[in-house]
Amino acid sequence: MDDTTIRIVDLYKSFNGQKVLDGINLDVKRGKITVIIGKSGGGKSVLMKHLIGLLKPDSGEIWIDGTEITKLNERELNQVRMKFGMLFQEAALFDSMNVFENVAFPLREHTRLQQKEIKRTVEEKLKAVGLLAFTEKLPSELSGGMKKRVGLARALALDPDIVLFDEPTSALDPVISLTIEDLIKETQTRFQKTYVVISHDIAGMFRIADTVAMLNNGKIVAAGSPYEIKRNGQEAVKEFLKATKIPGFAGGEL
Ligand SMILES: Nc1ncnc2c1ncn2[C@@H]1O[C@H](COP(=O)(O)OP(=O)(O)O)[C@@H](O)[C@H]1O
Ligand SMILES: [Mg+2]
Repeated sequence: MDDTTIRIVDLYKSFNGQKVLDGINLDVKRGKITVIIGKSGGGKSVLMKHLIGLLKPDSGEIWIDGTEITKLNERELNQVRMKFGMLFQEAALFDSMNVFENVAFPLREHTRLQQKEIKRTVEEKLKAVGLLAFTEKLPSELSGGMKKRVGLARALALDPDIVLFDEPTSALDPVISLTIEDLIKETQTRFQKTYVVISHDIAGMFRIADTVAMLNNGKIVAAGSPYEIKRNGQEAVKEFLKATKIPGFAGGEL
């Protein structure tokens, strides 16, 4: 199989005359962590919504495993969406359901698994995020970092080929951010799925990314390994790295 799982070709999107995506081109490699970084308000969430067909582009194409999705109808899109797990910015747990039921929810919705199988799967995912001891807790009893973990376990529940993360460490303190970054890396290594992470936290994401793609003024201005990005000579890239103070990597060194 081709090692590109998502291919974005000349993607354009404006809202009321405001250009947000201005010709995005990007290949996402299968079984790797691709991080899309860019400033707040720069169109990262808009781009991610296009990947699961929640937004339609003005023009351009998105190929998911050889299927062009921008012209699909809702029924067809739902098929494609089964390939995806999502961790939303606000974890988006069901407040009235305990941890176990939150993770079991997609399994009850989308599979005919028996309770025994559901239990096995939920426990496997909760173990992977270190929350096996918390199955009975309600979201209101959890910290922000723990909610993210539950959200991750739920995103992994259906063994999706591709997991999308929208700002997984925003609104978390630096120490908790580190543990969530590590957990993203660990679960990716364990389950070998394709992870696409969008974030404005460049320093944290450089730790875990296989590929970094930089979104600036509606375009991917650079894509490559963290090493390659750090050595990219473009002004826009240098400016962004300078502004974000990567440890041991102050802008001056570039
Ligand atoms: N549904 C929408 N309608 C109009 N404007 C939108 C919509 N969604 C996003 N935008 C605008 O697009 C720009 C990019 O937003 P977003 O993708 O959320 O940025 P970020 O990079 O922080 O995720 C912002 O100016 C936002 O106001
Ligand atoms: Mg966003």
